[in-house]
Amino acid sequence: MIQLAPSILSADFSKLGEDVKALEMYGADIVHIDVMDGMFVPNISFGIPVIKSIRNLTKLTFDVHLMIEEPSRYIEDFVKAGADIITVHFEADKHLDRTINYIKSFGVKAAVALNPATPVENIKHLIPQLDMVLIMSVNPGFGGQKFIGYALDKIREVKALAEKYNNNLLIEVDGGVDASNIKELKSAGANVLVAGSAVFKGGEIKENIEIIKREF
Ligand code: DX5
Ligand code: ZN
Repeated sequence: MIQLAPSILSADFSKLGEDVKALEMYGADIVHIDVMDGMFVPNISFGIPVIKSIRNLTKLTFDVHLMIEEPSRYIEDFVKAGADIITVHFEADKHLDRTINYIKSFGVKAAVALNPATPVENIKHLIPQLDMVLIMSVNPGFGGQKFIGYALDKIREVKALAEKYNNNLLIEVDGGVDASNIKELKSAGANVLVAGSAVFKGGEIKENIEIIKREF
């Protein structure tokens, strides 16, 4: 099963609540929430109070993508804000194994994200304990960037590891995903597709989701 995870980074923040409700109404599966600290990535987005304020508007899974340094400092806060999946970056955490266990101790799902230049091999030994791996197909920090093609090879590598060590592993791809590359992403093994600008462009959420889901 393929799941669509719209990134609210591209939503209209002046009516964020309405946009979040629209995602559920028009068939999105997961809400992807991009938290940026201006240190790990050269941009600042939004944080805990914003997540809290939209939590009760939808039953959809909240997939919180932490693009922040030393994310373990804030795990409990994001759990309390309503996260169902917490993704930390390999590059941002010196003690990933500990952080993954810490995330899971709250009963939420744990995921690790890899920047484009980070090899999949780095997380090979963590695969059995992870709920999801996030392959970045742009350099994190901004929506609307161009898809990096070699991310497909990395998805295939994660898929091979999942077949060996963790059949339930979710494989998420994030950055530059749109109707033009979904078929390839699917056949490479991705099963959670993040899409920001492709879902929110022109404010036509319903139509955009229809166009994307035609490729599933
Ligand atoms: C980038 C974020 C993405 C971003 C995707 O740092 O992690 O989730 O919002 O946006 P698009 O789909 O426009 O590339
Ligand atoms: Zn993201």
